[in-house]
Amino acid sequence: MTETAARAQIGVTGLAVMGSNIARNFARHGHTVALHNRSIAKTDTLIEKHGTDGDFVRTETMEEFVGALQKPRRVLIMVKAGDPTDAVIEELASLMEEGDIIIDGGNSLYTDTIRREAAMSKRGLNFVGAGISGGEEGALNGPSIMPGGPKESYESLGPLLESISAHVDGEPCCTHIGPNGAGHFVKMVHNGIEYADMQLIGEAYDLMRKALDLPVAEIADVFREWNSGDLDSYLVEITAEVLSQIDAETGKPLVDVIVDAAGQKGTGRWTVKSALDLGIPTTGIAEAVFARALSSATDQRKQAKGLASGTLAASPTDTKAFVDDINKALYASKVVAYAQGFDQIAAGSTEYDWDLHPGDLATIWRGGCIIRAKFLNRIRDAYAENPELPSLLLAPYFREAVENAVDSWRRVVATATTMGIPVPAFASSLSYYDALRADRLPAALTQGLRDFFGAHTYQRVDKEGTFHTLWGEGRTEIEA
Ligand code: 6PG
Repeated sequence: MTETAARAQIGVTGLAVMGSNIARNFARHGHTVALHNRSIAKTDTLIEKHGTDGDFVRTETMEEFVGALQKPRRVLIMVKAGDPTDAVIEELASLMEEGDIIIDGGNSLYTDTIRREAAMSKRGLNFVGAGISGGEEGALNGPSIMPGGPKESYESLGPLLESISAHVDGEPCCTHIGPNGAGHFVKMVHNGIEYADMQLIGEAYDLMRKALDLPVAEIADVFREWNSGDLDSYLVEITAEVLSQIDAETGKPLVDVIVDAAGQKGTGRWTVKSALDLGIPTTGIAEAVFARALSSATDQRKQAKGLASGTLAASPTDTKAFVDDINKALYASKVVAYAQGFDQIAAGSTEYDWDLHPGDLATIWRGGCIIRAKFLNRIRDAYAENPELPSLLLAPYFREAVENAVDSWRRVVATATTMGIPVPAFASSLSYYDALRADRLPAALTQGLRDFFGAHTYQRVDKEGTFHTLWGEGRTEIEA
């Protein structure tokens, strides 16, 4: 490793589409970028096609790659999450020196990031798990970046990452999230919300199709129009694009020739698993994950096709009014999904002692990422006004918006149910809302039952203490 060759400010290893695009983004922002890939062909293709984007350093071996970097060395790993990431980290770590920074930009599980950070810190290295959102386009033109890891590493890394991130109102969509796994945890919840958002959009589309019999092109127009209102967001915008696409081969809307079985790489599932462990009811995200699973149970679905529907209600007569109801149901359910996601983030922060700031997340999710939406400005304002907000649903702005939407929301869920159209995310979000605002819940009965069969005890509403009824012995109550 010759010191004279060490001129790159950042290195990127793993040059599939995301890695290549991030590397190009760094180069376009004037940073010298060392490139490395397991097979040199990808590196050469990048340089051949996009060499004019900026200053790239072509390297073949890991030694050459590490030797091309200025100190403290900063390397961004963009390889598949899991074992391949561990392998690259190990290879890099063996060549790096105290104070160098390894950044994992993949969708890694946050508990892996906690483990890796602890191992690297023992070796004197800074390990940063950074969530990066925005897909291929975002990687090239400005993603939302959620770096965790040691705060000190952000001093040298932050300006670099901020320079390539999306910007909204002059502010970068990148900030230090918190120690060790905090960045990847937050990215995971982002993806969970992304799942919920997409499921809700899907249900809104399905209702327009099945309850109102609207042609796909008209539904695309509805989404286009919604995108200039309160629902203004990237996912609503691209919904209009996807629905407008006509399949060249058949002349049908593309959506009608795509198999209706949704895939998943795992981040939504991880969000729900973590929510279960933390005891946070992220029902919207869970319904979205399960809806994908059910859609993919193609054999079972095929065999269940003949199941009776019972008597179904007729379509709503006022199309325009029902479309407006769907809009409001979508908005209210979306607020629930975010409220639940932010609850999970707060719980994760407490569990792992991360000191996460929800307002910061709302700020960096306003641009670059998949869930970017106009209403994140409102979320940011809500947390600025009250950082200790018990639920996003209790922020004055959202409270009023949801209260204004609730009649529509009920009509949508009721209509869907009586017409036999599945709306798991709309319905469970409404139930969550009703449960949250309820004066009394049937949990009292659950406690009674638990006490009956297992002497699990209960508390009373009218006095302190823990009680048990002697169910088999005269049913008198004793203090447990
Ligand atoms: C993003 C996306 C991105 C990807 C996920 C979700 O923020 O840029 O979330 O990370 O789309 O892998 O993919 P699945 O839907 O396959 O789980």
